[in-house]
Amino acid sequence: MLVLSTKSEFREHLETVRALGRTVGLVPTMGALHEGHLSLIRAAVADCDVVALTIFVNPLQFGAGEDLSAYPRPLERDLELAEDAGADVVFTPSTDEMYPEPTLSNVHVEELTAGMEGASRPTHFDGVTTVVTKLFNIAGPSRAYFGEKDFQQLAVVRRMTMDLDQPVTVIGCPIVREADGLAMSSRNVYLSASEREAATVINRALRAGAAMISAGERDPSVVETHMASIIEAEPLAELDYAVVVDPDSLETPAELVSGTTARLLMVAKVGTPRLLDNLGVDVP
Ligand code: PAF
Repeated sequence: MLVLSTKSEFREHLETVRALGRTVGLVPTMGALHEGHLSLIRAAVADCDVVALTIFVNPLQFGAGEDLSAYPRPLERDLELAEDAGADVVFTPSTDEMYPEPTLSNVHVEELTAGMEGASRPTHFDGVTTVVTKLFNIAGPSRAYFGEKDFQQLAVVRRMTMDLDQPVTVIGCPIVREADGLAMSSRNVYLSASEREAATVINRALRAGAAMISAGERDPSVVETHMASIIEAEPLAELDYAVVVDPDSLETPAELVSGTTARLLMVAKVGTPRLLDNLGVDVP
């Protein structure tokens, strides 16, 4: 596995790969790899000739007072895991390499970025769409892999590639969970033992919401209130939002319609980290 840290080396390597008629799959990450990331690498290995992993903690998507400096950066371990999962080349640029000048250009997706994570973190999605566009431009992948755990991010990136005719197919991969249902996240390392136990309430609340819909509930606000009440009963958890949305528009419908799929999205703070999770449910 090749490890490259300059844009020119990474770009030239993948240009050579494409010139040989081989397809490139891109897995953009911020490192601190866990099974969720490894499932993206494995999906890319199954689909593409060459799999390029990027590890870059992107300052542009962190707000003031967020965990940019504390964000875990276990590079040696990440490289071992990436190689075992089948990555062919890893791009590990420094911040100066990615942003030699303060960026005066940003990619902004309207509407889909306004609510939920965008409401709590106003500059976050511009940071994500800008860095992802840069990575697409440098790597030239035909497919790029993102986890459904950041469901709003996936919808935003999908919409960006469609609106801007970026020549890449975005592939969303299912959430990977711990045995007790907690969605895997690089930020789970911030949890104390008691917080780690309390954090399971998030997936429990989502499953309770999904069960209500499966049992016939059609009013999203009833489902949202029920999910919120489950979080509120856990003293270590503090609810940010619990919503029922359309998976593409990310808007809450007035009423759920039979034969469609709804997405339940939830964020709660447990101790320091904000933990994200979501679940798809078919409306019967
Ligand atoms: O999901 C992430 O880890 C990041 O938001 C991404 C897509 C790698 C962009 O920095």
